[in-house]
Amino acid sequence: MSQVTAVILAAGEGKRMRSRQPKVLHPLCGRPLIAYPLRTARALADRIVLVVGPNADDVVTVAGSDVRSVVQRERLGSGHAVQQARLECGDGTILVLPGDMPLLSTETIERLVDHHRKSRAAATVLTAVVAEPHGYGRIARKGGRVKRIVEERDATAAEKKIAEINTSVYCFAASRLWPALDRVRPDNDQGEYYLTDVIGILARAGGRVEAVVTRDPGEAAGVNDRKQLAAVATVQRRRTLDRLMESGVTILDPASTYIEDTVTIGPDTTIYPQVVIEGPSTIGGECVIGVGCHVSSSRIAERVTLLPYCVVRESAIEEAATLGPFCHLRPLSHVGPRAKVGNFVELKKSTLGRGSKVPHLSYVGDATVGEGVNVGAGTITCNYDGVAKHETKIGDRAFIGTNTSLVAPVTVGEGAYIGAGSTITKDVPPGALAVGRAPQVVKDGWAARKAKKREEH
Ligand code: UD1
Ligand code: CA
Repeated sequence: MSQVTAVILAAGEGKRMRSRQPKVLHPLCGRPLIAYPLRTARALADRIVLVVGPNADDVVTVAGSDVRSVVQRERLGSGHAVQQARLECGDGTILVLPGDMPLLSTETIERLVDHHRKSRAAATVLTAVVAEPHGYGRIARKGGRVKRIVEERDATAAEKKIAEINTSVYCFAASRLWPALDRVRPDNDQGEYYLTDVIGILARAGGRVEAVVTRDPGEAAGVNDRKQLAAVATVQRRRTLDRLMESGVTILDPASTYIEDTVTIGPDTTIYPQVVIEGPSTIGGECVIGVGCHVSSSRIAERVTLLPYCVVRESAIEEAATLGPFCHLRPLSHVGPRAKVGNFVELKKSTLGRGSKVPHLSYVGDATVGEGVNVGAGTITCNYDGVAKHETKIGDRAFIGTNTSLVAPVTVGEGAYIGAGSTITKDVPPGALAVGRAPQVVKDGWAARKAKKREEH
């Protein structure tokens, strides 16, 4: 079968975004816009050529090393953009994809490529029949056959009534595309070299021009401004949620749930309302993610419960652990199997071993906590001396009394006990009891004596 080169057009200025950032780098559900056509291109094409504008090194970097990029120095139109790709393209089929239509599914493009091949057309254009065609190029047909594409600003009143629009996705026979592109003139309202003109040129020359109509016209939604970006994100997000629900995840309120495309979740996990899960995160099966939790770039194993309002960032949680309500896992925290992190507890760059508990009101930073440890309410690791961070180590089955300050660097040995209210500044050997607080003083009858003194004055 003949080879396919995908040409992705991403050199448009994206003026309507009013952004310093290139349009195709704006994120949509966790991935830059350009990632969407790239995914389709990787699935269907043998090689990928990306057309970018000047100063688009970031776009080239994001695209990856398997992509050949060419720079369109002057933005003279979509036809001019495709021409820049010519030297990098192979023979066979040229599949043109716009960089700013992320909802187009790979299945739809595959249907386009298949139809193009089977019909041996000179060009096949992907079209959509939409309720609101304003702003798009219209498909002008005669006797059912595609004759040309007319841009909105060049269209007559009658042409503007056509509901079938150009999605800007095309397949071309390379041998027919390049000569036709050479004949495109900038004789239109914008003075640009329009790729759309190639369709008319080929049809007039008697070439076979085919059209494939999208089954879901919503796929043709483009991103030209931030309102459209938000509208497209709503659709994309719902697709992600649908995919998760189809794979066995319960989502109690899809309308208030934000889960990025980069997230995987196992079956029988329940997601409560107002949850945000983003970045490359994995969540195992049979978990419960409570109301208002925010998980980013983290790994959560099976049967984990996040009670409401937990924030988990760049951390890992092992099976059957319980967290929250209201806890904060800062980057590089690791909660062991069946461990518990309770109310108002902050963990940073710390490991909590199997079955260990930090149930209430604690800060644990730069700490390694063994297995079966109980960290009493209000315990704080004093990890920062104003200059540098220091580590705390707590051995297996140690018991840290409530309201303890562990002044790092410090080690509490296996099975050791710390008395409540202690400030621990020295290492505690395994099995020892350490009490680091002022001994209690009791003065019998003191209150009465004080009262009497006051009377005498
Ligand atoms: C284009 C089509 C229109 C179609 C619509 C679908 C043309 C002339 N018109 O219009 O028929 O209905 O898309 O969304 O193609 N680009 C470059 N270099 C340029 C100009 C554009 O790379 O010099 C790229 C853009 O980044 C974009 C694509 O080409 O990916 C289309 O350009 P855009 O300016 O968005 O065209 P539209 O007005 O949307
Ligand atoms: Ca566009």
